[in-house]
Amino acid sequence: MKKEFKVTPYEVEGQVDYERLIKEFGVSEIDNRLLERIKKHTKELHPMLRRGVFFAHRDLNWLLDEYEKGNKFFLYTGRGPSGPIHLGHLGTWIFTKWLQDKFGVDLWFQFTDDEKFLFKESSFDEIQKWTYENMLDIIALGFNPKKTFFLVDTKHANLLYPQAIKFAKKITLSTVKAAFGFTDSNNIGQVFYTSMQAVPAIIPSVLNKKNIPCLIPLAIDQDPHFRVARDIYPKLGFYKPSIIHGIFVPPLSGISGKMDSSGNKNNNAILTTDSAKEVEAKINKYAFSGGQPTIEEHRKKGGNPDIDVSYQYLKILFEPDDKKLQEIYEDYKSGKMLTSELKSILIEKINAFLKEHQKKREQAKSQISKFLFKE
Ligand code: TRP
Repeated sequence: MKKEFKVTPYEVEGQVDYERLIKEFGVSEIDNRLLERIKKHTKELHPMLRRGVFFAHRDLNWLLDEYEKGNKFFLYTGRGPSGPIHLGHLGTWIFTKWLQDKFGVDLWFQFTDDEKFLFKESSFDEIQKWTYENMLDIIALGFNPKKTFFLVDTKHANLLYPQAIKFAKKITLSTVKAAFGFTDSNNIGQVFYTSMQAVPAIIPSVLNKKNIPCLIPLAIDQDPHFRVARDIYPKLGFYKPSIIHGIFVPPLSGISGKMDSSGNKNNNAILTTDSAKEVEAKINKYAFSGGQPTIEEHRKKGGNPDIDVSYQYLKILFEPDDKKLQEIYEDYKSGKMLTSELKSILIEKINAFLKEHQKKREQAKSQISKFLFKE
């Protein structure tokens, strides 16, 4: 029997079978030929590409055809500001920054305060607070302020809404129900929301009065919004955006679902504002281990890095050196490396990263206005 899992923008459950997801979503795998093609332009491949963390795409070959003809693209991604930023969010944005640097392109970044107000229990004011807090984390990652434009749905409504209604007019209720599993008890704002998420992919084209290709890096749970919207872009006279899809960063509790910091689930996530002590305690206490119950048994049978959350974090985010990662893999698998040793490698990496990040996050407080898009 097939194992059950669920992936929509509003629910990720179970152990995701990414190969099956590629088929179900109708996206394409990133194969070696495409990797080589990317490498021609970027000179090196980001570890997340080498390791299949970004593993699927839509129309990336077309985007590169255009790029090679001199038709530069822009990047578009976003954040639903419903709570604090955790390590699971950072993968997509670290990769997006790499793309921005390597291709020298603009990034449009959408903050969907409307979405989170409509989908979560939080008040509008709470969502505004998280919008601000989340901006600090995104700026801290080092995006180029001259090439990065923040859009906040309710603040840039003048710009976004006239475009959103064009999408909304072409999306039926039954399409949205099928794509997101909505029922008659979903509120009407939720039904409309996809049309807001579609819009930033055309904003530079609208502003420049000329079609510009768009590449959207996202975690694959966001794909359904664009699956619904993609057929509409050409009907409105625009290019379909290209997409590059990433896997989910697993929660501390084990390799199913995704890291989530909303509600009271902070035991499942490392927040960017956690202290070194908190990181150490969370990893030691909660990070699911692929090791054996006793040291004796571990030495004899070895651990399983494929289900070990600490190893997965090193692979996805914190150990860029392939050789070192491979050594850790083998030592852990053979039993030479203990879970406590693996965890302390990870704790040190996370804390080194967060120390820098938290410093830049403080500095970001005076930078926000440089990033907010002004017409
Ligand atoms: N809906 C996304 C979230 O909940 C935010 C978002 C808006 C987004 N536009 C996007 C994510 C484009 C990826 C790509 O976080």
